Amino acid sequence: MVLPYITFLCLMLTTCRSLDTISVHQNVSDGETVVSGNARFELGFFSPGNSKNRYLGIWFMNTTSQTAAWVANRETPLLDKSGVVTLDNQGNLALFNGSGKVIWSSISSTSGTNINLVAQLLDTGNLVIKTGNLTDNETFIWQSFDYPGDTYLPGMKLGKNFITGRETYLTSWMSADDPSLGEYTLRVSAVKGKYQQVYLRRSSAIETRIGPYNGISFAGGANYASYTKPVSVSYMVANQNEIYLAYTSNSNTSTLISILTSGGKIDILQLKFPNPEWIPISTSPVHYCDNYGVCGPYGSCNSATSVNCGCLKGFERKTTSEETNPDNNISVCRRSIALDCGLGEGFQKFSSMKLPDTENAVFSSNMSLIDCEVACKSNCSCTAYANPNITPGEDGCLLWFGDLIDVQVFPQNGQDLYVRLAASELSDHYSISHKKRRVVMKVTLSIAAVLTLSGLVLAFYIRVKRKKRSDANQEGRLEKTHDKVYKSAEVQLFSLYKISRATNDFSIDNKLGEGGFGPVYKGVLDEGQVIAVKRLSKSSGQGLVEFENEVICIAKLQHRNLVKLLGYCIQGDEKMLIYEYMPNKSLDSFLYDESRKSLLDWPQRYHIIHGIARGLLYLHQDSRLKVVHRDLKAGNILLDHQMYPKISDFGLARMFKEDENEAKTKRVVGTLGYISPEYAIHGLYSMKSDIFSFGVLVLEIVSGKKNRGFVHEDHDDNLLGHTWRLYKEGRSLDLVDECLHTSYSACEVMRSVHVGLLCVQHRVEDRPNTQTVVAMLAGEGSLVSPKKPAFFVQESETNSCSVLPLLPSSVNGVTLTQVDGR
Ligand SMILES: *[C@@H]1O[C@H](CO)[C@@H](O)[C@H](O)[C@H]1NC(C)=O
Ligand SMILES: *[C@@H]1O[C@H](CO)[C@@H](O)[C@H](O)[C@H]1NC(C)=O
Ligand SMILES: *[C@@H]1O[C@H](CO)[C@@H](O)[C@H](O)[C@H]1NC(C)=O
Ligand SMILES: *[C@@H]1O[C@H](CO)[C@@H](O)[C@H](O)[C@H]1NC(C)=O
Ligand SMILES: *[C@@H]1O[C@H](CO)[C@@H](O)[C@H](O)[C@H]1NC(C)=O
Ligand SMILES: *[C@@H]1O[C@H](CO)[C@@H](O)[C@H](O)[C@H]1NC(C)=O
Ligand SMILES: *[C@@H]1O[C@H](CO)[C@@H](O)[C@H](O)[C@H]1NC(C)=O
Ligand SMILES: *[C@@H]1O[C@H](CO)[C@@H](O)[C@H](O)[C@H]1NC(C)=O
Ligand SMILES: *[C@@H]1O[C@H](CO)[C@@H](O)[C@H](O)[C@H]1NC(C)=O
Repeated sequence: MVLPYITFLCLMLTTCRSLDTISVHQNVSDGETVVSGNARFELGFFSPGNSKNRYLGIWFMNTTSQTAAWVANRETPLLDKSGVVTLDNQGNLALFNGSGKVIWSSISSTSGTNINLVAQLLDTGNLVIKTGNLTDNETFIWQSFDYPGDTYLPGMKLGKNFITGRETYLTSWMSADDPSLGEYTLRVSAVKGKYQQVYLRRSSAIETRIGPYNGISFAGGANYASYTKPVSVSYMVANQNEIYLAYTSNSNTSTLISILTSGGKIDILQLKFPNPEWIPISTSPVHYCDNYGVCGPYGSCNSATSVNCGCLKGFERKTTSEETNPDNNISVCRRSIALDCGLGEGFQKFSSMKLPDTENAVFSSNMSLIDCEVACKSNCSCTAYANPNITPGEDGCLLWFGDLIDVQVFPQNGQDLYVRLAASELSDHYSISHKKRRVVMKVTLSIAAVLTLSGLVLAFYIRVKRKKRSDANQEGRLEKTHDKVYKSAEVQLFSLYKISRATNDFSIDNKLGEGGFGPVYKGVLDEGQVIAVKRLSKSSGQGLVEFENEVICIAKLQHRNLVKLLGYCIQGDEKMLIYEYMPNKSLDSFLYDESRKSLLDWPQRYHIIHGIARGLLYLHQDSRLKVVHRDLKAGNILLDHQMYPKISDFGLARMFKEDENEAKTKRVVGTLGYISPEYAIHGLYSMKSDIFSFGVLVLEIVSGKKNRGFVHEDHDDNLLGHTWRLYKEGRSLDLVDECLHTSYSACEVMRSVHVGLLCVQHRVEDRPNTQTVVAMLAGEGSLVSPKKPAFFVQESETNSCSVLPLLPSSVNGVTLTQVDGR
């Protein structure tokens, strides 16, 4: 019988400090504590503030002000130090007062008795009851995290479990001296079919609404992700069984907690280890606009303006209105022009908004924004729609029915909201339905005088139908060619009609950017797949068969660090390539954006450098085709949802004939800042020109600065020259992007800078080949010393465009490696 012996030993030592568990029948009295294995949390009896009452609780060890993260007997204090807590063999933890009366108990759900139970204070501050011999993925019989107090800790779930029916939420203390249930609650609205947001209530009245959840955090709320990365990441889980919000804290040196104070504020604090010290991070709500629905329905609150309350465009305050908000005597916003659900009605886009209360909204996770508009348009009681998810490429559709309440202007982290307005209120253009409507309007203007409404509808119908038929014809014909000639290829032929539909008729709203070979559009196929469409500039002068051959060749280039080609489209003058869509856009959208660059920490940057090198090695050497990219740059490195780099636009250079002359083609090859001297000056290109561009890219990734456009107060050199100066002075680490502060591996940075410098050597033969680059980055072998790199400034003053037209076509037959594989 070992257990009684341990109990005895503990009693002899007066405290069980060395233990993080309480075994069955073991007593912990007032004065004794249980300490978590990592010595951060302590369980025991305490008196809060000036109170004399005793409570069983869990607090952070060794903090100056004893902050109780959890209290067991919130409503039933002990009046003296006679309290004892014991675990019985049913799995119940019971708190006895001096008269042996149970004043608090965990009501655990076990069947039968089990001597092998323990209560354990985990490193997370979670007190759990479990079977003693379970180790990993254990199910707890009971856990304190299911009964939170006023403190939100990493790992705690706020929300609802639909299986057990239990809702977990924070409740404030009555006062700093009294942990009994206070007036305020903080609850995630966890209702199936409703979109998640958080309400801070005083009794039953909503004080503040945080959210809705935007896929990353709560707009306007405690944005754990933004200021604490990589310390903490918050996440929302919503499935059949449960909906909850939780966050992780993955730093060894600090943790974040939130406290719902007895005054109704959400305080976020950071606790630094090992000498615990509280650092206040934020307190909310603070602003007038944070008061729930303060400007009334269709009102919009702006904390940046002197008068905070306004009405959404298309609405106005009717002073004659009887209805005023009694809290601030503001009259209610009313539609300037009533809706009649007519054809011309549409949606006004409002950007940078806190989306309205989702209580009266319906959510569908898998509808695109276009479908969402269609759905809202087709139901006359739908007042607004939006995609709550800010992650690019993520679908989602919120449809509001009824008043729009609690809208705010959020310049920083707001979202797009589309509000239904009468035709005459709409400012302009932005969506398909509107464009379609414009077509209708034009028709109306020209022929309205002679046509009745039915005639108009008929005309429109015929027009659409005819267009469809001709599309279908085209499609059929092309498909036949495709089938006949290229049956074996894995690459798909898309019809122009399909791509046009997917991209909203190449709408400007769908445009992702402009690459060297033409604009790129985002599209959503009818099947729901998200694609990126590259519309090639029309000047390649290639024949159909030649083009298709090229596409099929390129489609065979498959590597995890290359963007995947899904298919192509060719019709009339149009030639398009269809790629998988990369939700995180391109590397330059992070690297050169002040607000986003800190999202790329050093390990990610290093990983990206490696990935690009491997993709390049595949293009240069491992693939059958041996492709020279010729336009490697940050804008051509796309990032997938895991931030893995994928080279795009590879192989496109192959598609354009070598012997075109400068005058005839608009073809663009290379981008200033990335092109090697021999290419810029003599038009010679080779794999080593790609290596040069790669070197520039590496230095840009390290520094977070563009080579082209680099300025320094002490000299006129570009980034390469600047790097060379630092390298010579042994200060390579000074190149590192300031936003990384000191969180990087000095060794990896030095290696990257060194490899970068070797790649941008002036002489082709001084640059390493691709295989060597990959090996050097992997840390193999010692590195030769770089010479002075090629940091000439090669920008013509007159040419303001950032790309060079094709230089003299003397390339063919020159010794440097030629694109081969034809
Ligand atoms: C543990 O506490 C309970 C309740 O106070 C008491 O009845 C019991 O005798 C104690 N056991 C030991 C071993 O002290
Ligand atoms: C933490 O507090 C305990 C007493 O509660 C004390 O014995 C211990 O030395 C303290 N540890 C540190 C690191 O201050
Ligand atoms: C223990 O609790 C009971 C019931 O709540 C109460 O009557 C009794 O006075 C308490 N004893 C002590 C010592 O606090
Ligand atoms: C765990 O404990 C149970 C009794 O509660 C025992 O039957 C089982 O064999 C133990 N398992 C291990 C792996 O020790
Ligand atoms: C842990 O969980 C996994 C999956 O949920 C399961 O396959 C495995 O058997 C579990 N292990 C133990 C020891 O229960
Ligand atoms: C945190 O500490 C653990 C154990 O000491 C260690 O394995 C882990 O790498 C550390 N994590 C960080 C981010 O320092
Ligand atoms: C609103 O107006 C009424 C009468 O005009 C006044 O009695 C009341 O104090 C006002 N309320 C506020 C909050 O200003
Ligand atoms: C969209 O969701 C609905 C229900 O949630 C489901 O029935 C439908 O299959 C989904 N569609 C797609 C394309 O995933
Ligand atoms: C419009 O949507 C509401 C809410 O989902 C629904 O109750 C109503 O039936 C819909 N009306 C039409 C005409 O579809």
